[in-house]
Amino acid sequence: MMRSLSEIKRFLLFIPEMIFFGLSYARFLYWARSTQILDPQETWNRFTKPKNFLWEWFLDNYPPAIMRRLLCNFSSLRFRDHANAISQHYDLSNKFYELFLDKEYMFYSCADFLKSTDTIEDAQENKANYILNLIDPKFGEKILDLGCGWGAMLKKIYETTKDKKHLYGYTLSTEQKKFIEEKYGFNVELKDFITTEYEPESFDKIYSIGSLEHVREDELLAFSKKLSQAIKRDGKIIHHFFCRIGDVIPTRLLVGGVAIFPGIDLANLKKYLDVFEQVNLGVKHHSVHDYRPTLKAWFDRLVANKETAIQLVGVQTYNKYLCYLAEAWRLFDDRDLMLMRFVLQRQDAPMALKTSVTSDASHFLQKV
Ligand SMILES: C[S@@+](CC[C@H](N)C(=O)[O-])C[C@H]1O[C@@H](n2cnc3c(N)ncnc32)[C@H](O)[C@@H]1O
Repeated sequence: MMRSLSEIKRFLLFIPEMIFFGLSYARFLYWARSTQILDPQETWNRFTKPKNFLWEWFLDNYPPAIMRRLLCNFSSLRFRDHANAISQHYDLSNKFYELFLDKEYMFYSCADFLKSTDTIEDAQENKANYILNLIDPKFGEKILDLGCGWGAMLKKIYETTKDKKHLYGYTLSTEQKKFIEEKYGFNVELKDFITTEYEPESFDKIYSIGSLEHVREDELLAFSKKLSQAIKRDGKIIHHFFCRIGDVIPTRLLVGGVAIFPGIDLANLKKYLDVFEQVNLGVKHHSVHDYRPTLKAWFDRLVANKETAIQLVGVQTYNKYLCYLAEAWRLFDDRDLMLMRFVLQRQDAPMALKTSVTSDASHFLQKV
């Protein structure tokens, strides 16, 4: 009975959702709400493979850009409280995330697939090494992980420095905090890193991996200013995040900011660069990376663990994650989104540290 009601609701909502939010939004939820287990191959193809010109044009251009902006603003207002928004996604179930993330670290962020034979475990190890090199942590340095997830990078740093005392992590997910405390015993606080007041010049290194995306466009300047004041003069900030490339919000991103990561309002690359400059942070390294192999690997892992996933979170949530991972892949494939890593230093850093800028796009593969 409940199942038939859900199916009726799904059909009834399609037309109004298409009119207000567009085809990409409506068809995403239409499939995600299915009470039948989705076929993985059909789902992958449905979201990642372009169809005919007219379909694609409508999908990409309706609703108009101004409407997309308003919908995004409305969703940000509705989920103004970051703790509530974060909890909806990340407190779902630690066991569920364990099913498709890498076994060693549980990174929930883009990995570096360097060889065609790399597993998600190899690729996350490659990424962890890359970022470790950027952070260059030393024993005794005070280091802060903004949005520490399940403690992946804290673990990597601790393995190098063996210094737990000076390592800190902030998250807004109670499940993640519990997981980290039980598994590693790191200093993790339930703190909104956007609204927190930081003591001036209190950290040697501050980094974020896959969490800057949660800072809304209108919060970015004030937040970045706080960070630039929170690091020591010779300190550095490392950000790994994805951003929009164009000025306009892609239609496919709408559902992400409402149903997957509620309240997200992603800025474009220009905005980040402007903000870094405005808060007197100089770019010491920038690199571009390819998110697609990670999304595909998570999709395949989730499918391989279908039965357990459904037992843990139910059919509709399982379906929603399949649709979201495939839709996200397409956003990166279309070059609507791009994954970047930056190392930033204060403009008043000692001269000795003002090394030349390094850049790297070797991980950013050709269009597949
Ligand atoms: C995509 S996960 C990435 C986790 C981890 N860095 C990794 O690479 O696996 C984003 C993380 O950012 C955290 N987060 C997002 N917004 C936050 C905020 N305003 N304050 C604190 N944590 C936040 C979430 O709780 C989550 O741990």
